[in-house]
Amino acid sequence: MAYKPNDHFAKKAKKEQYVARSIYKLQEIDKRYRVIHSGDQVLDLGASPGSWSQYASEVIGEKGRLLGIDLKKVFLSLPNAVFMKGDILTLDFGPALELHNFTKPFDVIISDMAPDTTSSRFTDQMKSLELCEMALDSAHRLLKSGGNFVCKIFDSGDAMGFRDELKKYFNTVQLLRPKSTQQSSKEFFMIGLGYKKSLQ
Ligand SMILES: C[S@@+](CC[C@H](N)C(=O)[O-])C[C@H]1O[C@@H](n2cnc3c(N)ncnc32)[C@H](O)[C@@H]1O
Repeated sequence: MAYKPNDHFAKKAKKEQYVARSIYKLQEIDKRYRVIHSGDQVLDLGASPGSWSQYASEVIGEKGRLLGIDLKKVFLSLPNAVFMKGDILTLDFGPALELHNFTKPFDVIISDMAPDTTSSRFTDQMKSLELCEMALDSAHRLLKSGGNFVCKIFDSGDAMGFRDELKKYFNTVQLLRPKSTQQSSKEFFMIGLGYKKSLQ
């Protein structure tokens, strides 16, 4: 099944002024599992072009704050969000957090990071897994006890190993393939609820 660039969700996103159709994946995850709450401080990994940040920004409201990071620039201006260009594989979070005054641990870390795909499905799966491991590493450093985590992963034999790793650190782990996911896509999402900080 081929990728459909202008399907129902792409049209809906345009109409509702979201910069990408991915918004509906996070919206479905959040409606189901209540990952993000009003007033939360959110770290959005792989934020560009910014639809997850737009959604999270609405949910957290004026008392919340969001830091979005991506290899690519985010051309969005949201009242409660700041964006920075950076590679999660090499980024030194310390100066970035200090610069933007993110002093307390994050309530939620969301990662929609995905590698540029190649002709090798195996390579893509391994790169996706590496990004997931880095997102989890960020959680170990920056997520508060009891915090929530969302991570996109490409399906592979090793994906369930990552699910098992998450199970060690979160009270509950859920897997979801949102309805808005293109049929041709091999991605799905892992949702960790209730981070157990002391175990890390
Ligand atoms: C599917 S897009 C994210 C869409 C975004 N959640 C939205 O709703 O607009 C995946 C993003 O992951 C980013 N990405 C991939 N590898 C990364 C890395 N090592 N560090 C930071 N961002 C990365 C890509 O640049 C790309 O913008």
